[in-house]
Amino acid sequence: MSRCQIISLPDLTKARNRQDGASIKYDEAVYSEALKQFANGRKYLVKTFGCQGNVRDEEIISGYLEKAGFTKTSDEKEANLVIINTCAVRENAEDKVYGEIGKFKGNTKADKNFILGVCGCMMQEEKKAESLIKTYPFIKLIFGTHNIADLPSMLDRIISSGHGLVDVISYPGDVIENLPSIRLDPYKAFVNISYGCDKFCTYCIVPYTRGRERSRPLQSILDECRKLVEDGYQEITLLGQNVNSYGKDFHDGTNFATVLEEVAKLGIPRLRFTTSHPWDFSLDMLDVIAKYPNIMKCIHLPVQSGSTAVLRQMGRRYTREQYLELVKAIRERMPGCAITTDIIVGFPNETEEQFAETLTLCEEVKYDAAFTFIYSPRAGTPAAKMVDNVSDEVKHERFNRLLKVVEAGVIYHSSQMVGKVYDVLVDGPSKKNEDILCGYTESNKLVNFPGPSYLKGHIVKVKIVEDHAFSMLGELQDDPVEVLLKSAKGKLAKEPAYIEYLAAKKAYEEDAELQANLKAKEAAQKALALSMGTDEYDAKKAAFAALSELVENNPNYINLVSATADLRALFVEMKAILQ
Ligand code: SAH
Ligand code: SF4
Ligand code: F3S
Repeated sequence: MSRCQIISLPDLTKARNRQDGASIKYDEAVYSEALKQFANGRKYLVKTFGCQGNVRDEEIISGYLEKAGFTKTSDEKEANLVIINTCAVRENAEDKVYGEIGKFKGNTKADKNFILGVCGCMMQEEKKAESLIKTYPFIKLIFGTHNIADLPSMLDRIISSGHGLVDVISYPGDVIENLPSIRLDPYKAFVNISYGCDKFCTYCIVPYTRGRERSRPLQSILDECRKLVEDGYQEITLLGQNVNSYGKDFHDGTNFATVLEEVAKLGIPRLRFTTSHPWDFSLDMLDVIAKYPNIMKCIHLPVQSGSTAVLRQMGRRYTREQYLELVKAIRERMPGCAITTDIIVGFPNETEEQFAETLTLCEEVKYDAAFTFIYSPRAGTPAAKMVDNVSDEVKHERFNRLLKVVEAGVIYHSSQMVGKVYDVLVDGPSKKNEDILCGYTESNKLVNFPGPSYLKGHIVKVKIVEDHAFSMLGELQDDPVEVLLKSAKGKLAKEPAYIEYLAAKKAYEEDAELQANLKAKEAAQKALALSMGTDEYDAKKAAFAALSELVENNPNYINLVSATADLRALFVEMKAILQ
């Protein structure tokens, strides 16, 4: 422990602080010579647990590491720097982390400069960092969710001093823009619209680990999304613990409906968003979702419990009836809209009657999918202090009963899909079989279907032929080559050489004098051919040469010839892509 310098440790009292007025800062990380030298030739690996927010953090961490000069590896043995990005939402999420840390003891032995870092939500909990460095003395770096942007300077300190470092801050949190990032997927992207959470549901640790709720400036979100569209991304998921409370901290009327509409207008083929809190769900949001075909009709609406009494104890701020009203409003406005949810079983003192209300709510709503969890007490949250009279055995038994009801809803929706055709965004070949592609429908159903791997990243029509509850079997309806050609045309349209060619062709076609000369040249060529071997031949040849010169000296003709030559090179590239 003495070899680890402790700069700061988390403090849940500070983490509860909710002052308004987060500042917008810009990334100004400094990459020292020592860090750059160290990174040169070394490889990094980030292992992420938890939600999409953490996945996005991994991309930012990778951005910093690659800017410093590290290169990525997926091989644990050859990694020189490993960062474990943790989640604290339930105890089982934390248990996985301990096993993961232990795996890297061998790297430390093999490479004395090996750096193992641990970050993320679990590090924002009290006592976690201290206990980790005691149990795993080979950990060199611990940081939290608020100081990812300090990664280059923290690494520099470790490299220069030879000591480990623990630096976890508990503060309300700011917004940092211009973050470096290496995206994990070339077609699907997560874009943060807000950070943190102010809801303080009584069971949840997130408001403590992620700080106050703060929205990113609309312009920064739009700039990031516009770039993704230009780069050919097919799907954007807007992220926030509560996306629909976006803008509350601006106090100027900007709200989630505004962001959603503005991003939809950028023309991304698929737009998703998560998570929506039922309490903040507005009807103008529904209007925007309904209005834009590229906003996926799929709403994740965590209910947590079907009992108003339990919801009150959870601090969820809505009743069973209000939730059901909202579901009704969604279904009336968009009959085919998929609704998914999160449910917690076994909240302290949940009675059999209260649990039964969750079952009847699930039967009534018939969710397209539901993530079900057994309540896990989180130190520092109000629910963790409640005396709980429900045994683990009862909780597990309820959990299994809930799974059955949830499954019935999922199967109901899947069975309705058989025989119908859906748009599927292809993720790529399935892990088990290279000839089978997998992808997701608008309602986030997983579909497997035979098809060529080059369809990865394309949206194709697939007919559902079999329903397997949690995945479907389908048949490709589009001609795969046609799909590819269509997208090649789309790509071509953005190429400067193609744009120049189109302009040159237009000028050429609109040049009346050039057209007249071309026609005359054609006639002269014919006359020349007919006069072959006659006395007139020389005269016809001279006339033809004069007309040819007129045509070839016309600037519109010259431009078209050179634009066509440039385009040819592009065609060769496109052909290689198509093959
Ligand atoms: N912000 C989102 C979800 C964040 S956490 C929301 O409010 O919906 C994701 C899910 O984990 C929650 O919806 C909840 O169902 C579950 N969860 C959170 N804390 C939990 C706990 N202490 N025990 C069990 N499940 C929990
Ligand atoms: Fe947790 Fe509730 Fe915030 Fe969701 S809304 S992150 S469940 S406190
Ligand atoms: Fe886990 Fe933190 Fe996300 S606790 S669920 S990684 S916000």
